[in-house]
Amino acid sequence: MKIVVIQGPNLNMLGVRETNIYGPMKLEQIHAQMKEVAGQNGAEIEFFQSNLEGELVDKIQECYGEAHGIIINAAAYTHTSIAIRDAISAVNIPTIEVHISNIHRREDFRKENMIAAVCSSSVIGFGPFGYHLAMMGVLQIMNEMKAAVKAQEQQA
Ligand code: DQA
Repeated sequence: MKIVVIQGPNLNMLGVRETNIYGPMKLEQIHAQMKEVAGQNGAEIEFFQSNLEGELVDKIQECYGEAHGIIINAAAYTHTSIAIRDAISAVNIPTIEVHISNIHRREDFRKENMIAAVCSSSVIGFGPFGYHLAMMGVLQIMNEMKAAVKAQEQQA
């Protein structure tokens, strides 16, 4: 079972960037914790960060036939990118979006969300802990899918 974690623009600046909003944790530290949890659950995990919309679209497309779950923080592109929304919809892989901050309590332009409707779920406003919650969610979805396939096989 493989999970791909996709991080959008400026998330490489976590730990430096607006720490009053996003906290002091660096992206590498968040990823190290996720890697540990993935290992404990027998899942493979890959991390990708880009500041470029097209690269994020390319990475989502690469997940097709490769990944069983996606965790994405599309960052500012959440609010603007129909291309990222369409890519998530196209690959049809269970996808959980994460936002470190509570985007509903911030500026009005952050209330617009292009991708939530094509994701299985959203984890919003828990700080970096949201990535852990998303991991739990994606592992649960993957286990349920495995169980459903097994049940179907037993019926056949
Ligand atoms: C963010 C929220 C976005 O509005 C913002 O542009 C980000 C980070 C979050 O994780 O809270 O870059 O996605």
